[in-house]
Amino acid sequence: MAEIIAGVATSHVPAIGAAIDLGKTGEPYWQPLFRGFEPSKKWIADLAPDVVILVYNDHASAFSLEVIPTFALGCASEFAPADEGWGARPVPFVQGHPELAWHMAQSLILDEFDMTIVNKMEVDHGLTVPLSLMFGQPEAWPVKVIPLCVNVVQYPPPTGHRCYMLGKAIRKAVESFDRPLRVVIFGTGGMSHQLQGPRAGLINRDFDVNFMDRFTGDPESLVRLPHVDYVREAGSEGIEMVMWLIMRGALEDRAKEVYRYYHVPASNTAVGHLILENPSLPQQRIAETRIEFGMPQLDRQPEDVADEVIV
Ligand code: DHB
Ligand code: FE
Repeated sequence: MAEIIAGVATSHVPAIGAAIDLGKTGEPYWQPLFRGFEPSKKWIADLAPDVVILVYNDHASAFSLEVIPTFALGCASEFAPADEGWGARPVPFVQGHPELAWHMAQSLILDEFDMTIVNKMEVDHGLTVPLSLMFGQPEAWPVKVIPLCVNVVQYPPPTGHRCYMLGKAIRKAVESFDRPLRVVIFGTGGMSHQLQGPRAGLINRDFDVNFMDRFTGDPESLVRLPHVDYVREAGSEGIEMVMWLIMRGALEDRAKEVYRYYHVPASNTAVGHLILENPSLPQQRIAETRIEFGMPQLDRQPEDVADEVIV
């Protein structure tokens, strides 16, 4: 049977992709961020999974506001990088795993999750930046990727609880696939950031760190967090963090955090990164937890703004 062996959570800031593509990773602004992902790159190269299920959101690249699926599953054999306005990223095409993806579609839909089946889709920074952070700049991505796209750009996004339960259904789907694949699931987006309006630039490290603490040890305490709490505390784009809960639901309760990195800021965003391993892997902390605040305070805490202004 196939098995989900680990989960990776990471932010997906587009400027990180640009820094990689333009050869700027060694510059003082970017260097601490990329240093934080070095242990992760080694970890995933050693693990060499067969498939990544990559939970992300499309930022009006593949789907316009004309069609907005809540959950869309990429069943194609190949996905091209999207042109987000300055040309497609010079990264390899993503190779899918249609057999597992179709099996997941069947299992999830019969389990009453109404997935949209996608047979052709371009993938934007939400998917390609996490791949770059974890795999660097290879000629071809060393893993098959099943994109799972979640609507967090147009109200109403799915609840955290719905995401968490979808994760559990994904685990059941993967475990009922009759080929011995080793699967890692990525949950991407977040952490705190707001790109628009009077609170643009908001970063809330206390909320982010608390979210990471509860995410590993007590995820059930997060699943009922209302959307408005994400938006108030973590900014309008902080709602992307509900996608992490799909990853957490797909892992076992006893999954262990083996790596954490948190860096402020990268572009407008607090970058949070976790690696969790399921108990079937021999658990090894791969590096000390690192929390870095690279730049002078850009932070605007929620209490800095009037109570009534939340977007
Ligand atoms: C930024 C972050 C995002 O998650 C995104 O989708 C777009 C921009 C940013 O920090 O610039
Ligand atoms: Fe985003």
